[in-house]
Amino acid sequence: MIKVGVIGLGAIGQRLIRGFQDHPEMEIAAICDAMETRAKETAAELGGIPAFTNHQEMLEKTQMDLVYVAVPPKFHHAVASDVLAKGIHILCEKPLANSVEEAESLLKQAQDAGVVHAMNFPLNYSAGSKTFAKLIKENYVGKLRRVQLKMHFPEWPRPWQQNAWVASKEQGGYVLEVGVHFIQQLQKIFGSVEVKDVQIQFPEDPHASESAILAILKLADGTPVFIDGMSQIAGKEEIAFTAYGDKGTLSLLNWGQLAGGKLGEEILPLEADGNLSDSLVDNLVKAIKGEEATIIDFTSGYEAQVILEQLRKG
Ligand SMILES: NC(=O)c1ccc[n+]([C@@H]2O[C@H](COP(=O)([O-])OP(=O)(O)OC[C@H]3O[C@@H](n4cnc5c(N)ncnc54)[C@H](O)[C@@H]3O)[C@@H](O)[C@H]2O)c1
Repeated sequence: MIKVGVIGLGAIGQRLIRGFQDHPEMEIAAICDAMETRAKETAAELGGIPAFTNHQEMLEKTQMDLVYVAVPPKFHHAVASDVLAKGIHILCEKPLANSVEEAESLLKQAQDAGVVHAMNFPLNYSAGSKTFAKLIKENYVGKLRRVQLKMHFPEWPRPWQQNAWVASKEQGGYVLEVGVHFIQQLQKIFGSVEVKDVQIQFPEDPHASESAILAILKLADGTPVFIDGMSQIAGKEEIAFTAYGDKGTLSLLNWGQLAGGKLGEEILPLEADGNLSDSLVDNLVKAIKGEEATIIDFTSGYEAQVILEQLRKG
């Protein structure tokens, strides 16, 4: 059995706990959250496993093979660094850290520790985004002319993710929280990218995260990448990752839906290939057992952070 520890029991920590529980080769050994009531309640739900409010104490007192770090971004570096110092395999939430320097130091520490170092970038395991990547590889759009990421939010933070940090300039905003998923996809599907121009707007409150961003990046072959983000606007939330080519257009809409068309055709919904759907937890188990696995590691986390920080700084 692979013994797992979870640090950070908020919206996302709770979600992945279910994935660990459902895996026959995993067992949750201990959990930790700075909020004592949250830690105790979750431990009780998990059958009375040990609960901690201090991650160092958990690392000292519990034998674990894997630790999942799901605390807010500002604490990723400190917590992940303590996990790596113990030589334990790690799954870290995105973004890897809260600055390029922190991300670089975690990458180095993870490589030196010789452990499995994985990031939770779920698009790498879902049918819609994997079908998008497959269609691009199969030349659905032809020669690429532009990649575009649209992130429009009627409200930021979104009603389901209300917490103290996600609307803060220090460690929140949708460029960090949502944009980084697509920066990672962009790098994985289309290769390395460079930031050319960023116009980012902030509200009057000096502590609040961005209200709008327009950015132009370039792929290695010169293809432009356009990022258009806005919040506090009319209408519905819209997240669209689109590739325009000389033969057609292909979009991944709102995380999972595919839409596309060839030149001269309408853009219509396309079916994702359900056979491509995969599981992060299954892949983590394989990686820990030394088997071939799809793991988005800290190198990818670091590379995405380099672009993310240039966008956030404007
Ligand atoms: N991969 C994804 O799709 C995805 C989706 C949402 C959020 N996230 C990421 O997950 C992380 C957590 O997000 P969330 O929405 O669950 O946040 P949240 O605020 O709901 O939960 C964070 C939890 O961490 C606890 N915490 C804070 N500092 C701690 C510390 N030092 N030690 C122990 N516990 C501590 C808080 O008490 C809280 O319970 C963030 O990095 C976020 O970017 C990832």
